[in-house]
Amino acid sequence: MASVPSLASSLHQRIADALSAALPEAAAADPLLRRSDRADFQANGMLALAKKLGGNPRELAAKVVEQLPAGELIKDVEVSGPGFLNITITDEAILKTLAERAADDRLGVPFAQAPGTTVIDYAQPNVAKEMHVGHLRNSVIGDAVVRILEFSGEKVVRRHHIGDWGTQFGMLIQYLIEHPHELDHEGEVSGEEAMSSLNRLYKASRALFDSDEEFKARARRRVVDLQAGDEETLALWQRFVDESKIYFYSVFDKLDVEIRDEDIVGESGYNDMLAETCRLLEESGVAVRSDGALCVFFDDVKGPDGKPSPLIVQKSDGGFGYAATDLSAIRDRVGNLKADTLLYVVDARQSLHFKMVFETARRAGWLPEGVKAVQLGFGTVLGKDGKPFKTREGETVRLIDLLDEAIDRATAVVREKAQDLTEEEIAERGAQVGIGAVKYADLSTSVSRDYKFDLDQMVSLNGDTSVYLQYAYARIQSILRKAGEARPVAHPELALAAAERALGMHLDQFGENLAEVTASYEPHKLAGYLYQLASLYTTFYAECPVLKADTPQHVENRLFLCDLTARTLHQGMGLLGIRTPEQL
Ligand code: ARG
Repeated sequence: MASVPSLASSLHQRIADALSAALPEAAAADPLLRRSDRADFQANGMLALAKKLGGNPRELAAKVVEQLPAGELIKDVEVSGPGFLNITITDEAILKTLAERAADDRLGVPFAQAPGTTVIDYAQPNVAKEMHVGHLRNSVIGDAVVRILEFSGEKVVRRHHIGDWGTQFGMLIQYLIEHPHELDHEGEVSGEEAMSSLNRLYKASRALFDSDEEFKARARRRVVDLQAGDEETLALWQRFVDESKIYFYSVFDKLDVEIRDEDIVGESGYNDMLAETCRLLEESGVAVRSDGALCVFFDDVKGPDGKPSPLIVQKSDGGFGYAATDLSAIRDRVGNLKADTLLYVVDARQSLHFKMVFETARRAGWLPEGVKAVQLGFGTVLGKDGKPFKTREGETVRLIDLLDEAIDRATAVVREKAQDLTEEEIAERGAQVGIGAVKYADLSTSVSRDYKFDLDQMVSLNGDTSVYLQYAYARIQSILRKAGEARPVAHPELALAAAERALGMHLDQFGENLAEVTASYEPHKLAGYLYQLASLYTTFYAECPVLKADTPQHVENRLFLCDLTARTLHQGMGLLGIRTPEQL
């Protein structure tokens, strides 16, 4: 289906035409159309234009009004203040536009005009380590951005740059060689069990590494074997990766974030490129040797002592670091995957790293001018005390514990309100509401800001929460079920009540909101749009009886507004990765 122009864009076009008819010099002028409280829209463009052309703005505005006769779209135009136009549009135009949206699967939302290829780096936990709240953010934000971009028609390649390489593996592998049954298990293990054996192994090997000099030496030699690609060592390393994946998938599953195995290309995936990356940087002079290490310097990056603080690509002992991997990944993503946009959903505390990596890649020619690299640097999750989230013992909070607690709380809320749900349904809805609550709290704050993890607030039925949105959706579904024979049908001949108009006008803005959200990678603006939609629906519901409306046409028309609201909520929440249960 074709995309549906919004009322705002139709009106924009109409006024632009009127402007150029009134004043040929104004042909390319922007009418500066805004939503307004006084009428539906206000156009402010006449002020700037009169100033530029040296005329009287009220006179110019009056001339434009002459060119805007009332009709199907415009109900009323008046000049106000120093030369604004206040414009009211017809109820008929609102309903006709919404009916066109409703006839389309995409609700009339257009595809992006020039879609490209985005490689997005998100949901990147570390092997043999617990996932914590930081991984909540990089998974949830990344998943939403993937969905939003794909909906716009963008080709999206997902990359989970998991931490699966590094010197700690020497210690882990050596320990496993010396205690060969530590990771054995019969049959399938749960994610929790996998993580708990990894944890046990990690702690035991760490303790040995710190207390036993000979073990330490063996562990260090094991790193060398690993890097040299020794087969036995690699096979053991793979066991750690596989065991960790069992755990990761169990957490992603609970989080309702779909991760595909082929998209997991961890740090180790770039091993073959590291030496070449360093050689190319050194040959081109982008990187230089400094005390044996291969470094890239920046004029504006200095340490606390005022000395330049370089990006270290290769350490003096020959080891490759995080930067070498990220630079190689850029070469792969641009050179092989043909990305024209690189996105990184990574903690804002890594911003300096990415700034230096991007700049280095630019200098080396791996990030040509047409390719955009953006870090969506997210803020920190804070505890109720406003400090980075920790347990009472001062340890990092396990993500899985948070999710379980959210599900428990949400299940209690669902149970309290549930009328005819079975236990199984309560559990399913509880999970959808609890996980939705956690995701929504994360996504409704702008990415770069810190936020407090407050479960009481997150599962509250009132206020800016996913539960509120989910209840609005479920309530509409219940009305539609009760409607019996009556169908949702738009009746453009009917006059709309104020609450219906307000809801209708907002519904019409869905595509414009999404276009903005897509271009700026700001899911919180979509959350804001949906919250406002649910609020407008609540007012409509309070003021306009649906099934008991005056005439059958009114019933159908209100059912139509209900249905389109539900579909918009469902689509919008879906783009945030949040479920909308049919019944709550
Ligand atoms: N594994 C890292 C962490 O847990 C995130 C990796 C970010 N991505 C990257 N390309 N460096 O913080």
